Amino acid sequence: MTINVGDKIPTMTLKTMVAGKPKDITSEEIFSGKRVVLFAVPGAFTPGCSMTHLPGYVVNADKIIAKGVDTIACIAVNDVFVMGAWGEAHNADHLLMLADGNGDFTRALGLEMDLTAHALGFRSQRYAMIVENGTVRTLSVEPGPGISISAAESIMAVL
Ligand code: BEZ
Repeated sequence: MTINVGDKIPTMTLKTMVAGKPKDITSEEIFSGKRVVLFAVPGAFTPGCSMTHLPGYVVNADKIIAKGVDTIACIAVNDVFVMGAWGEAHNADHLLMLADGNGDFTRALGLEMDLTAHALGFRSQRYAMIVENGTVRTLSVEPGPGISISAAESIMAVL
């Protein structure tokens, strides 16, 4: 089942790079008492994610934060070292780069995607959500391969 507006984000531990080292970070640490924009990509360093999706949030980070957002988080079913390197490559200093290495968080949300036909395994669908104090307030899952309703500009319009 897919997570819906009004649902709580599941309790889960993810990973992020802190000062060059992988660190656990819990969903409570990320979401509790905060307004968070979380966007998910099928893969770090893939063309659409690198050329469009991530840069949109990087260039608009200040404007998003000015709209009352505490954290902009980017998640993918990739390992923590890859997510850290991808964030560094794009100067994503104001973003929290989250690794869902085993896909547990993505599966718990019901937002996994089978890319085995492309030798990419099981990844995340492309989506963005606004989460307030751990509750999903908006959810925009891309219906196809493009980057539209989950783009930074689309999320800014509903913030
Ligand atoms: C992309 O360009 O973002 C992409 C390409 C292949 C698989 C997943 C994503």
